[in-house]
Amino acid sequence: MAYDYERDYAEAARDPDGFWRKVAQRIDWMQAPTQIRDVSFDAKDFRIRWYADGTLNATVSCLDRHLATRGDRTALIFEPDDPNGETQRIPYRELHARVCRLANALRNLGVAKGDRVTLYLPMIPDAAVAMLACARIGAIHSVVFGGFAPHSIADRIADCRSKLVITADEGLRGGKRIPLKANVDAALALPGTNSVETVLVVRHTGAAVPMQMPRDRWVDAVVEGQPDTCDPEPMNAEDPLFILYTSGSTGKPKGVLHTTGGYIVYASWTHERVFDLRDDDVFWCTADVGWVTGHSYVVYGPLANGATCVMFEGVPNYPDYSRFWNIVDKYQVTIFYTAPTAIRALMREGDAPVKATSRKSIRVLGTVGEPINPEAWRWYHDVVGDARCPITDTWWQTETGGTLIAPPLDRPQKPGSAMKPLPGILPAIVDGKGNVLEGETEGNLVLLDSWPGQMRTVYGDQKRFFETYFSTFPGKYFTGDGSHRDADGDYWITGRVDDVIIVSGHRIGSAEVESAFVSHPKVAEAAVVGFPHDIKGQGIYAYVTLMDGEAEDDALRAELIAHVRKEIGPIATPDHLQWAPGLPKTRSGKIMRRILRKIAEGAPEQLGDTSTLADPTVVESLVKHRRGQ
Ligand code: WTA
Repeated sequence: MAYDYERDYAEAARDPDGFWRKVAQRIDWMQAPTQIRDVSFDAKDFRIRWYADGTLNATVSCLDRHLATRGDRTALIFEPDDPNGETQRIPYRELHARVCRLANALRNLGVAKGDRVTLYLPMIPDAAVAMLACARIGAIHSVVFGGFAPHSIADRIADCRSKLVITADEGLRGGKRIPLKANVDAALALPGTNSVETVLVVRHTGAAVPMQMPRDRWVDAVVEGQPDTCDPEPMNAEDPLFILYTSGSTGKPKGVLHTTGGYIVYASWTHERVFDLRDDDVFWCTADVGWVTGHSYVVYGPLANGATCVMFEGVPNYPDYSRFWNIVDKYQVTIFYTAPTAIRALMREGDAPVKATSRKSIRVLGTVGEPINPEAWRWYHDVVGDARCPITDTWWQTETGGTLIAPPLDRPQKPGSAMKPLPGILPAIVDGKGNVLEGETEGNLVLLDSWPGQMRTVYGDQKRFFETYFSTFPGKYFTGDGSHRDADGDYWITGRVDDVIIVSGHRIGSAEVESAFVSHPKVAEAAVVGFPHDIKGQGIYAYVTLMDGEAEDDALRAELIAHVRKEIGPIATPDHLQWAPGLPKTRSGKIMRRILRKIAEGAPEQLGDTSTLADPTVVESLVKHRRGQ
């Protein structure tokens, strides 16, 4: 073990500035920072700035600095959806050249520092190349997960006024084709998207896709003849690196903005520390680059560390349930990082598909995205890891940029616990009034102080940033999660305490699904809650009130579910839809979701106090007609 947790935590607590100054030295700076942190979570002088007088370009740490010593080392290993398809091994030297060519092409197309570029791509190396090409020239990328539908793409383009979109002809997942370019075309036909001047298309499946001239260009054509070097744009540490939209309690998804210096320092440091990264590791994080896990632990963290990283286009069950483990054996993966939902889905298929493979190369296992139930943890440990490998259960968020709480690997782990804050991280548990609770306890998880990878603002809406995260418990960052802390001081994240639902590790806001429902002409009102789901962790349960005179039948139920799927994307497909002639509301008209959650869970005996309801009879009727038993 390369580190001593207690020693490092104590060192960071004693001298935070000195500690974070040292951590920042792992990155190549054009101008090294002399200022380390400048932070206040208080309303009157609210600010979050790290390394503010430093200058750098994140891609220099991810690419250029490796050329002299490890230019021939594989940066990315690409495993396509089709197990018999063409794999790729891209050395650092080649990745650098590809990034530079695309960066030059983007500059030629008029993209400049500060411009926003939306990426809507499959899990292929071009996605990493596109992110880094933007970063090379100081453009701010906004990656939109390839599973989102045109409306969701359009909202995200409109919010940040992207100038350019990079997509592919199609994506492939489990043998199915995803019409990416067609979805972009549909998105750009929607209002609010006229900022987009150019659409670059990666030729991936080779499908014929309509190209609208002069807007649409093939990536091959624009990079052709471009030099394979490109001067990196000097960026201030606090200049934006990317925007990533994520769901919150209310309203539309927020554009989480990360800046350059603190983010790359934190992604790189946590990637090494949390996984105990060694020089000869082959690291595989199964997350899509459309999520923050893909940003920090497929692209920025591993590449800044000069690691070899697997990128997998497909899904765990195609062509069969051994796929993950076959890939592990094929590339001799040493660190494997995935989500509990995938583990549960594979566990359901039994041990045979795992046992058919070797997995001897694996040294460390990781999980992220939602609480892992102890049963899934044990299966992961005993069957996948042959009871040989430590499991790092990493708790973090899009907002945090990198892992904040994870088990130190120098001691035994506890199944289901993320255990300890990383050095320099100060979590606390507070009650509903914001009082810090000591010792063994349970409550709301907050952070008392900043860390370099913290988000800096909601793009274009600083007020929303402050209100969302710093107003519930003044002076503290509120995570939206609940947590238990045991007698050893270990943290056990219990899940969201707000209206965010985590479905198969994907964050979905109740409000987004509700607004998709009410955009249907026959729907008067909708309320959406999460409920426990064996495989997905949480499923989506919807209560829908129809317009007067509409018939509550199965055909309409199917139509409404399809409507939500079409508006947001397949990940937001409701599992259950219950007709609700009325919704439980307070006398002031607020929907009481607490009650709806208990009904969806099938625990009507725990409804609690219903005396504040405007019409208590509504609840009885909902309990009687609950779906999904
Ligand atoms: C949840 C993903 C329990 C949590 C990196 C958080 C977890 C939300 C864990 C962020 C974990 C993430 N144990 N819960 N190890 N990791 N979560 O923004 O509710 O997609 O607030 O970031 O996922 O999801 P996001």
